[in-house]
Amino acid sequence: MTIAVIVGTTRQGRVTPRLAKWVMQAAQNRSDAQFKLLDLKDYDIPLLNEAPWEANRQLTQGTRQWLGELQEADGIIIVTAEYNHTIPAVLKNAFDHTHGELIRKPVAIVSHGVNSGVRANEHLRQMLNSNMGSFAISATVTYFGKVTDSLDEQGNSSIDNQLNDDKLQNVLNDIIWYTKALTSAKQQDIS
Ligand SMILES: Cc1cc2nc3c(=O)[nH]c(=O)nc-3n(C[C@H](O)[C@H](O)[C@H](O)COP(=O)(O)O)c2cc1C
Repeated sequence: MTIAVIVGTTRQGRVTPRLAKWVMQAAQNRSDAQFKLLDLKDYDIPLLNEAPWEANRQLTQGTRQWLGELQEADGIIIVTAEYNHTIPAVLKNAFDHTHGELIRKPVAIVSHGVNSGVRANEHLRQMLNSNMGSFAISATVTYFGKVTDSLDEQGNSSIDNQLNDDKLQNVLNDIIWYTKALTSAKQQDIS
């Protein structure tokens, strides 16, 4: 059972990887699932220029790899910042390329920003529950405080971070629970 942890920003000097590493550190203490970090910056995903359902669409190798990683994931955690009251365009674009890879998969959201990224968090929740077939679980982290004030480059907390740590444990408990439950249902081919 694999849960992908997605870094949702790509700009130079970004801080979202710190948050994703903080998630990965806590996740790696769990023996009940494998976690895999997927950084959007590592994939060449151009702006969508043809419909995802086109049979002969021309995908870059990077887009193909990205979609392949999503297909292999049983559950997902998206780590996002808030840009202009919503999610970063690179994150939206990466998901606009999908075509069936997310069907019946649970997704947890971890957001940050000046106001904990709450608007991006809610927009992302709405997007995940659209035509993509995934569903956003209720447990979430709206990160309290500024990431650069509390996490170093490796995702280690530099201050007492109990409030955020507790929210993250809640997210991990629930994303693992839903991923297990749905993976088991798929294996039993419940119709
Ligand atoms: C283009 C841009 C727009 C932003 N707009 C918002 C915003 O609307 N609300 C907010 O809380 N933070 C906003 N921020 C602050 C970001 O959430 C914060 O800088 C965060 O660290 C960005 O993630 P990144 O460093 O991984 O790019 C914005 C940042 C950028 C670069």
